[in-house]
Amino acid sequence: MALHDRWVQERKHERYYKLAKKLNYRSRASFKLMQIDDRFGIFREGDSVADLGASPGGWLQVAKERVGDRGKVVGVDLRYIRPMDGVTTIIGDITEDSTMRELTELFGGKADVVLSDMAPNIGGNYSTDHARSVDLCMYAVAVCDRILRKGGKMVVKVFMGDMIDSLLTELKPRFRSVRIYSPDASRDTSSEVYIVSKGFLASENVKLKDIAEEEKKPEFRAKGRNI
Ligand SMILES: C[S@@+](CC[C@H](N)C(=O)[O-])C[C@H]1O[C@@H](n2cnc3c(N)ncnc32)[C@H](O)[C@@H]1O
Repeated sequence: MALHDRWVQERKHERYYKLAKKLNYRSRASFKLMQIDDRFGIFREGDSVADLGASPGGWLQVAKERVGDRGKVVGVDLRYIRPMDGVTTIIGDITEDSTMRELTELFGGKADVVLSDMAPNIGGNYSTDHARSVDLCMYAVAVCDRILRKGGKMVVKVFMGDMIDSLLTELKPRFRSVRIYSPDASRDTSSEVYIVSKGFLASENVKLKDIAEEEKKPEFRAKGRNI
């Protein structure tokens, strides 16, 4: 990255970081979700929301504010999430059946929105990081198959790269619209983008997996890659 671009990126990080501190958001990622919601209208009052990769809780705060007291917000993360009023948290790995099952039981096919800001631990090799990011997105798709209601929405973060197409191939038959977006709070920073999908088609196009029978992991692990 050119020196000037890096300077612009650092200033932007710092601006959102300071704003998050000032407004009591747990992370500057909060602004990404606000900007996505302002642009695409993700939340409605009273919605039920599952937030995957939720720690430290910046997205949970925004989701809770926007769905209000009648809404239901559940956050999942490998890491501890400091308790938040009116928000349920699950500490677990979304790639584990037990976590997937716990989430499914909490929503029972009635979630209005599935969010994923999950990111793998960044190693030195970009193509491996990209493949891991796509893999996590595939798990988020598996969550949608289990808990998202017909017409529901999904927002998922992914690191750009050549495997994006395989992710879009999973998303397009499942949703009425699928858009790639980069909010100002993340633009110019790294290679992350957000895929905003609306109008979940549920059982019309996708055969819902029977969680009771299926004890194995989602079959679409990043194919052909040793990750
Ligand atoms: C960028 S942070 C999320 C920030 C959060 N959206 C916020 O606003 O505070 C990404 C998170 O994804 C979580 N994560 C990564 N892999 C995961 C997995 N397999 N299951 C659950 N969480 C995971 C990480 O522990 C990390 O906390």
